[in-house]
Amino acid sequence: MTNERVYIETYGCQMNFADSEVVGSILTGAGYGLAGGVEEADFVLINTCAIRDNAEQRVRHRVRELRALQNRRRGLRIGILGCMAERLQSRLMEEEDNLSFVCGPDAYRRLPELLAQVRGGQKAAEVELSATETYADIEPVRLASNGISAYISIMRGCQNYCAYCVVPYTRGRERSRDPQTVVDEARSLFERGYREVTLLGQNVNSYRCGDTGFPELMERVAQIDPRLRVRFATSHPKDLGDRLLEVMARHANICRCIHLPVQSGSDRMLKLMNRKYTVEWYLDRVESIRRHLPGCSITTDVIAGFCTETEEDHQATLELFRRVRYDYAYMFKYSLREGTYAARHMADDIDEAEKTRRLNEIIALQGQIALENNQHEVGREYEVLVEGESHRSKERLFGRNSQNKVIVFDRGDAVAGTYRRVKVESCTAATLLGTLTD
Ligand code: 5AD
Ligand code: SF4
Repeated sequence: MTNERVYIETYGCQMNFADSEVVGSILTGAGYGLAGGVEEADFVLINTCAIRDNAEQRVRHRVRELRALQNRRRGLRIGILGCMAERLQSRLMEEEDNLSFVCGPDAYRRLPELLAQVRGGQKAAEVELSATETYADIEPVRLASNGISAYISIMRGCQNYCAYCVVPYTRGRERSRDPQTVVDEARSLFERGYREVTLLGQNVNSYRCGDTGFPELMERVAQIDPRLRVRFATSHPKDLGDRLLEVMARHANICRCIHLPVQSGSDRMLKLMNRKYTVEWYLDRVESIRRHLPGCSITTDVIAGFCTETEEDHQATLELFRRVRYDYAYMFKYSLREGTYAARHMADDIDEAEKTRRLNEIIALQGQIALENNQHEVGREYEVLVEGESHRSKERLFGRNSQNKVIVFDRGDAVAGTYRRVKVESCTAATLLGTLTD
């Protein structure tokens, strides 16, 4: 036992937030307390992202900023978890000499030993990847939870090897978690008052454990209770089949929102990116979503300025955005990642100013489309899961509809964690404003 405390800071994707909750569970299980902030912590663990250079630069900045605190509090130890730890390994401790340890995403069970070594004055690195680790038996501590919505990680790793992407190298081979443990975790959350779970994986559509594929898993989780909303991310377009859409159509509590990263609207780029689908295939998937699930929202990721991208390729991306009319998009400039296929075999030949221009054109177009989509929502009524107070005013609450759109409304007698009906009265590109109707 120890009365030392850890503070976990998380960057990156939803999967990282879910992992931090597993880490919290492992360390509290080993007798550590959870600190409310870095000031009260004996160990600060930074769970990091390596997907783009700017994600790594933010973390390096944070590590250097924490040096000031270490100068005042000599016992404070800092370690790096997650994708940057895996990518850079002990090199990272040489470059940032105030770090005491690095621990990759499959080695979190070793953290208690690692921290013990560090306490003894050593530096430590654990970066072994695993073909089997899923942390299935670990019940995550809900670190940043509102008590309403939680993440459940259902698989780890990725082996799609998109040419630009570092994830297969930082998170290892794909493996799926036992379905019964997923269902049990979801049920236990529901019984404790949670009303929404998001099933997470790098490519949930390739989930498989024995006879259970992703559609079967979704169905089992959806059957726990109609009052439990089920979301999922992320879908690879090459693997999004109609069977999943059919299961969704049968269960109103599976949310009408699909994140379907397209990356580019040009077949030539998709081929170079090793995405294994064409624009035609992608549009067919979109059409199938719209046919099975009228009113389903579709969101995406896109990369501007990948290797050799021409103006024509870029225009094809804009054209695809006009056709699909996404409700939301995460939009990025291509960032070269060492070790990837693109870094080894292709030139990062689009200059920064040109990448910026293309990205800004996509952002402007998407902003316009999101606003127009929201304008169509005015007058419609939705069931909203109330989440809490609006950031702007205590008189207002916010929640989300099944399509994952945020709706802000006058609080009336509504309480967080319940379902209410809200009619949309007006909107911006990011938010809907409405009033309670029940
Ligand atoms: N550069 C820019 N964006 C990237 N993504 C993945 N790798 C890179 C990279 N090297 C984007 C993709 C992916 C999202 C999570 O991040 O769009 O879907
Ligand atoms: Fe998540 Fe990928 Fe970033 Fe790792 S590199 S934290 S998997 S987005």
